[in-house]
Amino acid sequence: MNYPDKVQIIDVSPRDGLQNEKQTVPTEIKFELIQGLIDAGITKLEATSFVSPKWVPQMGDNSALMQLINSNDNRHKQVCYSVLTPNMRGFDNALVFAPDEVVIFGSASETFSQKNINCSIDESIERFAPVAAAAKEAGIKVRGVISCTVGCPYEGEIAPSQVAYVTKRLVEIGAEHIGIADTIGVGTPIKVQNALKAALDYIDVQHISGHFHDTYGQALANTLAAVELGVAQYDTSVAGLGGCPFAKGATGNVATEDVVYMLQGMGIETGVDLDKLIYVGQKISDYLGRKNSSRAATALLAKQTS
Ligand code: HMG
Ligand code: MG
Repeated sequence: MNYPDKVQIIDVSPRDGLQNEKQTVPTEIKFELIQGLIDAGITKLEATSFVSPKWVPQMGDNSALMQLINSNDNRHKQVCYSVLTPNMRGFDNALVFAPDEVVIFGSASETFSQKNINCSIDESIERFAPVAAAAKEAGIKVRGVISCTVGCPYEGEIAPSQVAYVTKRLVEIGAEHIGIADTIGVGTPIKVQNALKAALDYIDVQHISGHFHDTYGQALANTLAAVELGVAQYDTSVAGLGGCPFAKGATGNVATEDVVYMLQGMGIETGVDLDKLIYVGQKISDYLGRKNSSRAATALLAKQTS
């Protein structure tokens, strides 16, 4: 097996984890979550997204949150703070806060592209191109994420050739990294490997990440399938929070705690302190009044209390 020695965890809970919450989560709670993640050893995270507040009200405090991160020596130099920027409007709004990375997010499904960002796949590439160029000019990293790479809530199964097409287009316009997302968590290991292999025709494995939602309980298996291909970066959410408002019924991302537990057991380094992380996940779950969706966290917390 082609296992990597180290894996980069990108905790996306402040963004993907919270974007679908119906209750307004105060900016201070998001900030506390981010600081807690960093204290637990997370070195890369998605802080927020610069999208329309009419479409995703929960991310409407993007500027306030970034301002808080940037004030009073709160920002950690060793941490990569990523934000989602679907168009130039979003990029310009984000730029004043000097994010370390911007994420342009497309889709391998034409219908999901329309539902999520209100344009076709080809139109989305046209919108992303100036964002990627402006980010490069400003010295900001550009990551492309592709939704619905194995299945779509509207179109059903998605062919790997669609993943190849969108990867190629994103790389052509300057994406330095490609995230392969199973938005609705329908993927199984071989299908996910096929989606990853399609992307690998256009970008090296060290610039690919996996982003697996756990709707059908496959996300950890899919993570392992990606690890077996040598993929060494994963978007995960503490306590398994997450979901997309435009993919009804989809549940959270694979829990960061579960991925860290699995990788630690395999002798793969993540730099994350699992005990501290579990505390952060339980705290935000308690705040939201949600059951902690991390199996490893639930088991380890039960052991502690017994
Ligand atoms: P649009 O309606 O096509 O854009 O939205 P528009 O240019 O026609 O503008 C319409 C209105 O939005 C205008 O305001 C603009 O000013 C405003 P109005 O005149 O009506 O008051 N607007 C903006 N406001 C703030 N920030 C902006 C912005 N752009 C336009 N950047 C847009 C296009 C993409 C903005 C919209 O469709 C949108 O915000 N969609 C939300 C997308 C989203 O956040 N989805 C969830 C995140 S992606 C995800 O979860 C998947 C992922 O996790 C991977 C996976 O699991 O698959 C990444
Ligand atoms: Mg997602």
